[in-house]
Amino acid sequence: MRLSERQSNLDTQLDSAHTLWHPQPFRDIRPAWCADYPDLLAELLALDDATAEALNNDGRAALGFLANFFPAASDLVALSAIPACTASPKVEHGWRWAWEIPGRKQQQIEAFAAAAHPTGLPVLDWCAGKGHLGRLLALQWQVAVTSLEIDPVLCDQGGQLAARSGVSQKFACKNALTVTNAFSPQQQAVALHACGDLHRRLIYSGAEAGVARLEIAPCCYYRGVAEIYQPLSGALQTSVTRDDARLAVTETVTASARLKRQRDKEMAWKLGFDLLRREISGESLYRSFKPVPAACFRGDFSAFISLMAQRENMLVPQGMGLAEFESLGWQRQREVMRLSIVRHAFRRPLEVLLVQDLGLYLEAQGYEVSIGSFCERQLTPRNLLISARRA
Ligand SMILES: C[S@@+](CC[C@H](N)C(=O)[O-])C[C@H]1O[C@@H](n2cnc3c(N)ncnc32)[C@H](O)[C@@H]1O
Repeated sequence: MRLSERQSNLDTQLDSAHTLWHPQPFRDIRPAWCADYPDLLAELLALDDATAEALNNDGRAALGFLANFFPAASDLVALSAIPACTASPKVEHGWRWAWEIPGRKQQQIEAFAAAAHPTGLPVLDWCAGKGHLGRLLALQWQVAVTSLEIDPVLCDQGGQLAARSGVSQKFACKNALTVTNAFSPQQQAVALHACGDLHRRLIYSGAEAGVARLEIAPCCYYRGVAEIYQPLSGALQTSVTRDDARLAVTETVTASARLKRQRDKEMAWKLGFDLLRREISGESLYRSFKPVPAACFRGDFSAFISLMAQRENMLVPQGMGLAEFESLGWQRQREVMRLSIVRHAFRRPLEVLLVQDLGLYLEAQGYEVSIGSFCERQLTPRNLLISARRA
């Protein structure tokens, strides 16, 4: 199936399921879909903790679960299935090139390099960090690499690593959003996990300049989105807000049991505070608050409420029965975890919609485009690679 056809089908399905994935259960105590799907609601609320955790972390299984109540969910499994990239055999460079790179990151970079297509042209490594990917490509493809990065400390450290490896890699310490003259037709560009408007700038400006080949593993799609995501490739039926675009990247694969307990406690306390605020103010709607630093959760619940009340300018009357709000917070946390399975089922389909939008834009600019996954999601859930060759 052609990319445009896949996108049109996915767009239609996501748009028709909008009421299921758009509401955020930590804001809406009972999202509107609960009234339309009472059996789904009952089954979700009856899930044990381990199953709820597993379904929250496995979008495909969550779509399968949802399909019992909303049959179109099974179409989304196929529409968001992305094939693995064809990878060239791994090249051994010894351990020296990967000096300082944490294990998982090194594997991501090696997988990206194996899935990318060498052209023999100089490489632009976009939003390069310390330029680990650029260094590996300079070594493996024997080409000159320019690693563009805004942070001078990372540029310095990357420069030292390049010198130590003896590769042809230089750093351009520049802002990717405003840089001019970075692109040329006799060039290949790569970007591993350049966020939101950073990967969109590469796509717009790289295509405009006719860069010969672009290979981009995007992430943080919501960055640079004001309120509603503006599709690059033309109108979508599906309206994707900034929060929806963020949903696509909320999946984690690394949380330990201790981190999960901490995450649950933080959510329960914040929900407990939200219920208390609704009670005191008489407002029935959720009101967002600034991110709460980890230090605020170190004491007990009443200390947490004092800190939050101070931050939010809220007066907590004496005798509010904080223990009751703590236990209501935990009750809400258990419900939110279960109701969120519905929203989380749509994470990958939404991500695929956003990535295909970028791919279709490149097609319209005269590129041959393929989209594949360059590594297992256990290495990184942001494993989609857009590979575009100027036709
Ligand atoms: C998620 S990191 C990815 C780094 C590297 N590509 C990798 O995968 O290891 C994103 C990088 O983009 C850089 N960055 C952020 N804003 C930038 C900008 N406006 N111009 C250039 N680089 C930027 C950050 O400093 C950071 O090093």
